[in-house]
Amino acid sequence: MEQATYIRFPYEKLQAWGEKVLAKTPMSEEEIKTVVKVLLDTNLRGMDTHGINMLSSYSERYKAIEHRDITVTEDKGAGCVIDGGNHTGQMTSMFALEKAMEKADKFGIGLALVKESCHNGAVGYYASLAAQKGYISLVSTTVMPLIAPWGGLEPFVGNNPYAIGFPYKELPIVLDVANTVAARQKIFSYAREGWKLPDGWAMDKEGNPTNDPQEAINGLLMPVGGHKGAGLALMIDMILGTLAGGTYSRSICANTVTGREQHIAHLFFVMNPDFYMSREALDANINQYVADFRNVKKKADVEKLLLPGELEWEKSLERMANGIPVSTAIIKELNAYADKIGVEHLA
Ligand SMILES: NC(=O)c1ccc[n+]([C@@H]2O[C@H](COP(=O)([O-])OP(=O)(O)OC[C@H]3O[C@@H](n4cnc5c(N)ncnc54)[C@H](O)[C@@H]3O)[C@@H](O)[C@H]2O)c1
Repeated sequence: MEQATYIRFPYEKLQAWGEKVLAKTPMSEEEIKTVVKVLLDTNLRGMDTHGINMLSSYSERYKAIEHRDITVTEDKGAGCVIDGGNHTGQMTSMFALEKAMEKADKFGIGLALVKESCHNGAVGYYASLAAQKGYISLVSTTVMPLIAPWGGLEPFVGNNPYAIGFPYKELPIVLDVANTVAARQKIFSYAREGWKLPDGWAMDKEGNPTNDPQEAINGLLMPVGGHKGAGLALMIDMILGTLAGGTYSRSICANTVTGREQHIAHLFFVMNPDFYMSREALDANINQYVADFRNVKKKADVEKLLLPGELEWEKSLERMANGIPVSTAIIKELNAYADKIGVEHLA
């Protein structure tokens, strides 16, 4: 596998360029700023498969569909349902997260379900934000079908990622994973760079293991832990698909398919710890927890055991200081898109 080449950009340069690209769509200024911020903060955290590379697909999709206002359609006690009106998943997710946090402040827990939304990027972004504000959270989303029921040969549900976040000092502890061995965007990255996939990531249409990214894109992604990951993805699709509006499985379409509603649903479950114990007691408990974690005996070749989210936190500090690396293959794609819409090249 050849090494990709990268150019590093200051955050602000990518931000200004990204906002220029989206200004060519009918998005409001608030939505443009929100989308670009979520994408770049995801790049900062090192999740480069869900960062600035997604910009052109969001822009094309937004231009090609009708939008309604984002509205709350059900609002009872600690729960609510939000109709995302086909807005970007970033915009509807920020709306829903705020709503879930408001409810958690009132009831100790808050649940916001979003229907009729679009791809919302790295779900860990929202759980990190909640953790930095002092909340515990579970965030998830539906995705177009990529996984077959265990033993099946047709994609039925998405890899439906979930993030679980917990507040700890300035470091958000966040597990942010999809239910496949590799996220679909990682398969696209391998295809873009011309690399072979590692073993165990995907199957072709006949269910045979494959290392070819194109066969994987046309075939099936491997769920984590066999029937366990396939089952977890199914339950997320089932709960969101039935409770948040009735769109699930094959009614969900890819982000890259324009001119059609994407029918994605999201879940934001937030706990306000202040309802369960004092902040001092919780801080003492989590500090002790982390100290015990740090004391776990390591393998000889492991330098440090990492908490979920720690890698991303360290990377975000480094990238904020030294710039965000973007591969030349992504820059080429973004420049081609810039030509198409009449914006200057990124580099
Ligand atoms: N919105 C969507 O449609 C969608 C779909 C799929 C995936 N995604 C996003 O794709 C991204 C990548 O997903 P993935 O499943 O490939 O994640 P991944 O395999 O890269 O795992 C990331 C998680 O594992 C933790 N981690 C990584 N290395 C670790 C180590 N050595 N020790 C301890 N913890 C470690 C990280 O802190 C992070 O929480 C996620 O941000 C996910 O939300 C989004």
